[in-house]
Amino acid sequence: MKPKVLVTREVFDDVLEYLARYFEVTPNQSDVPLSADALVQALAEKDGALTTIADRIDSALLDRCPRFKAVCNIAVGYNNIDVAACAARGVVVTNTPGVLDDATADFTWTLILATARRLTEAEAWLRAGEWKGWKLKQFLGHSVHGATLGILGMGRIGQAVARRARGFDMTVLYHNRNRIDAAIEQALKATYVSFDELLARADILTLNIPYSPATHHLIGVAELARMKRSAIVINVARGGVVDDVALVAALKQGRIAAAGLDVYENEPKFLPDFLALKNVVLAPHIASSTEATRHKMAMTAAQNLVAALTTGKPPNLVNP
Ligand code: DGY
Repeated sequence: MKPKVLVTREVFDDVLEYLARYFEVTPNQSDVPLSADALVQALAEKDGALTTIADRIDSALLDRCPRFKAVCNIAVGYNNIDVAACAARGVVVTNTPGVLDDATADFTWTLILATARRLTEAEAWLRAGEWKGWKLKQFLGHSVHGATLGILGMGRIGQAVARRARGFDMTVLYHNRNRIDAAIEQALKATYVSFDELLARADILTLNIPYSPATHHLIGVAELARMKRSAIVINVARGGVVDDVALVAALKQGRIAAAGLDVYENEPKFLPDFLALKNVVLAPHIASSTEATRHKMAMTAAQNLVAALTTGKPPNLVNP
């Protein structure tokens, strides 16, 4: 008998075909999100699952799914999964590192440029029929070339963001839990600074760190107050790393210049105040969303699930 697995959301057809070689698969190609109860019911008799960041896997769920052995997230982030609760029950957790670094770094730059140059604000104005002719002071933005880029989190994605900054002749500063190799610093022309110095000197601050209790509201009232009034904050990491209420207040009061956001606390809900602000560019958590990248993420997660339930040794194991 083949092991039984659930795929919680729509994936590419060839990913389902690949899984079907090894498992009895319950797909969800209608892509209707499963409520917490529906997820428990769907997982009750399953051996494993491909999950997304919208699926909460916690001890309450695990206790009701005793047969469950592997949760393979289609994401590099896994803050939707209680890893300790999984480890305590022998449930394998995997993620998809590496395959989305470039797409996410590209999108970080999409937000940097769109925010600094006020692209979405100007486009909305043009579409509203407001453009009557060229003006010297029309939509004055912030220069990106030559500016100081501050990168908070210098893992694979942070480094990919730094590589792209070289083409813009920027001063690149970074702060990370651990300082990276001197050779990599040199290749990226990136200088390690304290968190305080990063906040004080960055013209553009990009957040490329995972969410955890340690990074919850890492950027809040006090941190925003230490930034330049002309600074721009870019968040493609996770909602919750930034205190959104504090960010709205800082944007409203001009304590920083602008923000470019792909992620929000409690998404897909977000503070309606963001919609009323002109100095924020908003995206719906799409930083990794290119056809090729999302396919690689889903296929990597599927390969992890096959390895987890056959050899017990998936390539991208998160828990020991
Ligand atoms: C990730 O991989 O963690 C992304 O946020 C999902 O797109």
